Amino acid sequence: MKQLVRFMMLVAVFSVPSVWASSAYKLADAYTYANYDQVKTTHIYLDLNVDFNKKSLSGFAQLDLTWLVKNVTPIYLDTRDLVIDKVLAESANGQWLKTPFKLSKRDDVLGSKLTITPKFKAKALRIYYASTPKASGLQWLSAEQTAGKKSPFLFSQNQAIHARSWIPIQDTPSVRVTYTARIHTDKSLLAVMSANNNPNTERDGDYFFNMPQAIPSYLIAIGVGDLHFQAMSKQTGVYAERYILAKAAKEFEDTQAMIDANEKQFGPYRWGRYDLLILPPSFPFGGMENPRLSFITPTVIAGDKSLVSLIAHELAHSWSGNLVTNATWRDLWLNEGFTSYVENRIMEKVYGKNRAVMEQVLAVQALEAEIKELPKDDTKLYIDLKGRDPDDAFSDIPYTKGQLFLMYLENKFGRQRFDDFMLAYFNDHAFQSIGTQDFVKYLKANLTHKYPNIVSDAKIHEWIYGTGLPKDAPQPKSNAFALIAKDIKAFVADKNVLSQLPTAQWTVHEWLYFINNLPLTINKAHMVALDKAFDFTNSSNSEIAHAWYLLSLKVGYDAIYPAMEKYLITIGRRKLIVPLYKELATTAKGKAWAKKVYLKARPGYHGLAQGTVDAILNK
Ligand code: BES
Ligand code: ZN
Repeated sequence: MKQLVRFMMLVAVFSVPSVWASSAYKLADAYTYANYDQVKTTHIYLDLNVDFNKKSLSGFAQLDLTWLVKNVTPIYLDTRDLVIDKVLAESANGQWLKTPFKLSKRDDVLGSKLTITPKFKAKALRIYYASTPKASGLQWLSAEQTAGKKSPFLFSQNQAIHARSWIPIQDTPSVRVTYTARIHTDKSLLAVMSANNNPNTERDGDYFFNMPQAIPSYLIAIGVGDLHFQAMSKQTGVYAERYILAKAAKEFEDTQAMIDANEKQFGPYRWGRYDLLILPPSFPFGGMENPRLSFITPTVIAGDKSLVSLIAHELAHSWSGNLVTNATWRDLWLNEGFTSYVENRIMEKVYGKNRAVMEQVLAVQALEAEIKELPKDDTKLYIDLKGRDPDDAFSDIPYTKGQLFLMYLENKFGRQRFDDFMLAYFNDHAFQSIGTQDFVKYLKANLTHKYPNIVSDAKIHEWIYGTGLPKDAPQPKSNAFALIAKDIKAFVADKNVLSQLPTAQWTVHEWLYFINNLPLTINKAHMVALDKAFDFTNSSNSEIAHAWYLLSLKVGYDAIYPAMEKYLITIGRRKLIVPLYKELATTAKGKAWAKKVYLKARPGYHGLAQGTVDAILNK
């Protein structure tokens, strides 16, 4: 035993440089300037002041370095729109010396390379800098733009390559760092980070954070606002503005049950606390899996827990993504596909098989529609990003095709054997970044070759490197939806059937399936009848409203416009607004209306959403 321990320690000591020097994914990440094969950051300390007037974070970042090469080389860091004041480098005897640096010309995708040239192998760097109002990874909301109207709000969204817009950093998921931070804010505000938030911290504008587990740069996160905390269980709680705090805590009260469920299937939750930060409705995503503190859109707080799969999803990233991380953005499916699969397994355990399968069917329907629209090459799991901004190549492919691939493997090998594989996968790669090729190797060794003649290498290849969906991809079927499909037929044939349908028992999922699967040839009278009976136009469920507006636009049902205008102005979540703008832009009249509304909506949107909608309406 002792010998084994000693051997493992040797492996631990030597494995760091050898992994970095090995060829598997050496500088495979095309989205960083960092020479992380030569020198890499192990720990970051941030000392930042939050200035809402200037819309700037300013102070310094200290990067502790480990050298992987013998000789001194320049150190390249990623930045975007940062103002760099000075750089100090720490010598072997602990002196901080002023050090030359150069900021290169800005690339639209990558930002500006920061070249630092110490004359010695610096132990650490201190970079004094300020972010600018343009920072792509930050949204600064004025007090008027928040629900409370009294205090401003700041939040970060680093994934994929936006950390560099507020931290000079090796901005690649192949480098993991621990971090500590001291954040100075106005006394009336609370700062939280993807770290050890203390719910009982003194509200004095001077906040300390520690993230002792090594994470990639895209998981460093900050939120500042008039935030308050409400516990949901010993381990879980919600940070939010007062107006929504209690509602959020009620909606997400099953979070602890989700953690417990997933620990049983895929191993321990390794991060200590798990809290949720409810953001303003302009948050451009549904959620973001910032460790210990997922960032969540308020648009999933429906009052009936109908949209809580989002929490299961962000929580699932604590295994797939945060613990085992995609090495580059081409490997995003390793994060999102695994997470969508694990999310659904959590939903099955906490809310039952029927609901889990309904969610599968809705996801697969969306995927199939998207596959028809996407360029063929973009339907590959291992996507060729072709130098594009990773944000621009975002789709359902890594999520739902990735999930289907894992469901396929589960079906083929049986749940028990597949779960054993997943558990081992998470344990064997814990706190590591891995690429698609590494995964394929691991999959063969630990599943498909271990139990031979069930899934061929060619089949794996087809799933990962092929376009579209394999012919034998799983086709989830929901009995509940089969009934709805019949009801749709009856309703289309005769709108008076509506009052006889068992709609009182339908869940949000059944309604979504119903609305999404109504034929586009449906009469206006049918739309009027539906709206009269259920008032979808004013639905407080953001997904139902979205599905209804989209259908209405497609079939020319105009009663939605005033409500949709409000919707587009309050909500900035891309998934809920982009399809509407796209549909509007297909007609001259729709586009003119959209431009008018967008004029009012745009100032409240996050830069990412602005970019997407600009591109749709200015074409
Ligand atoms: N990590 C993603 C969000 C993301 C992905 C940001 C890629 C930037 C680049 C997050 O976990 C996510 O997938 N959010 C989804 C949730 C949904 C699939 C349940 C979203 O925001 O819609
Ligand atoms: Zn995700």
